[in-house]
Amino acid sequence: MDSVSRRTFLAGGAALSTAKAYTRIVGANDRIRIGVIGCGGMATGHMHALVKMREAENLEIAAVSDLYEKRLEKASQLTGGKMQKDYKQILDDKDVDYVLNATPEHWHARVILDALSAGKHLYSEKPMTYSIEEAKKVVAKVKATGLKLQVGVQGMSDESYETANQYVKEGYLGKVVLAQIDYSRNHKGDFWLYEEDPDAKPGVNLDWNTWLLPTKKRPYDAERFFSWRRFWDYSGGIATDLFVHRVTRIIRSLGLTFPERVVATGGKFEFSESKAEIPDTFNMLLDYPEGVTVQLVSSMANDTPVRHLLRGHKATLEFTRTGFTITPQKLYENEVKPVVYEKKGAEDISLHHKNLQAAIRKNEPLKCDCMMGYYGVVAARMGVESYRTRKYLAWDKARERVVHA
Ligand SMILES: NC(=O)c1ccc[n+]([C@@H]2O[C@H](COP(=O)([O-])OP(=O)(O)OC[C@H]3O[C@@H](n4cnc5c(N)ncnc54)[C@H](O)[C@@H]3O)[C@@H](O)[C@H]2O)c1
Repeated sequence: MDSVSRRTFLAGGAALSTAKAYTRIVGANDRIRIGVIGCGGMATGHMHALVKMREAENLEIAAVSDLYEKRLEKASQLTGGKMQKDYKQILDDKDVDYVLNATPEHWHARVILDALSAGKHLYSEKPMTYSIEEAKKVVAKVKATGLKLQVGVQGMSDESYETANQYVKEGYLGKVVLAQIDYSRNHKGDFWLYEEDPDAKPGVNLDWNTWLLPTKKRPYDAERFFSWRRFWDYSGGIATDLFVHRVTRIIRSLGLTFPERVVATGGKFEFSESKAEIPDTFNMLLDYPEGVTVQLVSSMANDTPVRHLLRGHKATLEFTRTGFTITPQKLYENEVKPVVYEKKGAEDISLHHKNLQAAIRKNEPLKCDCMMGYYGVVAARMGVESYRTRKYLAWDKARERVVHA
């Protein structure tokens, strides 16, 4: 088949506003062509992984886009992809099958919605979107277009969590009442502050105004560009950058969806002089309607880990480096057998891309689809809002919105 006859105008085209929307039907032996949007730190990891997979998985990086020319050039050198300053040119390219969206959080929804409108599948970095409202729009559009959206919580390619869910569902742990998980680091001087590249010159080789576009206009600030996670306009800090990885694991393991009530606490306890707007220590409690509390623990000023546990009435499941263990509670020692599960998958972006490629080629189910993305955004964003308003919040399930508890 030639490339034109293989290309079909997307079914359900009524949902698409642009006449440029094409989705190619990718056969098992066809080469998959990828576009990379946002070529910073995380995308560099993705690009290295994808370059390694090129031959074995029959793929190529066709195009790359960034607002900072130095990163754009580096990405093109690494991958051989065509340089595009405006990501829409990648979306207009009929030969691109899926895009990797590795922009900062405040750009996620725009890129996803534009890509879906253009008929492209996506691998989009976490959190799926900056806001809950954006997440709803993304879910609606994925459903309307039937396109594949893999959310970049690559831990979902570690099958420990879906396997743990089998034990939970069959009642092996008894009623799970509490889950605890952490994500902590330590820093000296200031926290989550990235090195600023002095070569970046707004208006010369960096399109700062476009970078800011979804948010408030302001003069160039290198710290905002390089360490955007520290500022509320672009990120929810620990909640949306780190906890999304963690809460998604628990959501998958326990088969949860939306929380019922959420409260978050914390502050700039160690780095009180930092320019960062986000707290350095942040903790959340989420009650889910299934009757379980999920506890997320984090500090950027102490990295002693907390065990990752599902606490059931009859047994405790502990996630370990190699999989998980199940240990009976003393009261049930004679009824419940201990378990040691060795995982086969891993928290690995290559596996996560392969899963998306299999979804595109063979309609295999995604490990982290838009609904998982939505549940993660709701949990994390309720945490941010609770922390910032110092309020205990509830989720109105019928209207899918946050209300005061
Ligand atoms: N899954 C993980 O383990 C993991 C780890 C780190 C980061 N991330 C995620 O990856 C994403 C990027 O994070 P990062 O640390 O690489 O940030 P970064 O700032 O290093 O890179 C983002 C890049 O996107 C570019 N960009 C912004 N808007 C753009 C636009 N409209 N068009 C083209 N390029 C644009 C910026 O110029 C920048 O180079 C975030 O969503 C982050 O949460 C995920």
